[in-house]
Amino acid sequence: MILKTPIKTSSLCQLEESVVSGHFAAVHNKTTEKPQIWICTELLEGNYASIRIADNGIGMTEEVIARLFDPFFTTKPVGRGTGLGLSISYQIIVEKHGGSLKCISELGKGTEFWIKIPLKFDSV
Ligand SMILES: Nc1ncnc2c1ncn2[C@@H]1O[C@H](COP(=O)(O)OP(=O)(O)OP(=O)(O)O)[C@@H](O)[C@H]1O
Ligand SMILES: [Mg+2]
Repeated sequence: MILKTPIKTSSLCQLEESVVSGHFAAVHNKTTEKPQIWICTELLEGNYASIRIADNGIGMTEEVIARLFDPFFTTKPVGRGTGLGLSISYQIIVEKHGGSLKCISELGKGTEFWIKIPLKFDSV
């Protein structure tokens, strides 16, 4: 079996960097407890790769969750964030690879992103 899902290393790196840097910022901005980031990768039934990344950072308000994947949406100070990280991640996962990108977040508690990408195989 040969894995055929043509996900470019560069786009995977960009994706990881966008999601993970959000997690780093979230735990960095919260000083009350030990900052932690969890990453869990799994192969799901039906040939899906699942990557779940969670933090115990600042979390998000309903307003932020609603606009999370909008291009140019950022809560960073002017000149610091482009607000493109997650909208590009969404494009790579959902539009290019037919996968899904979901976010569960609770203000003050933390955030979890769930990436699911369909894998295509070629029998040899
Ligand atoms: N793990 C997270 N915890 C809390 N908020 C987050 C997390 N990840 C993203 N966000 C929120 O989502 C917003 C949009 O994220 P996105 O990556 O699209 O842009 P950005 O990080 O602000 O800018 P850039 O990616 O250019 O640095 C962030 O400004 C932040 O408010
Ligand atoms: Mg970002």
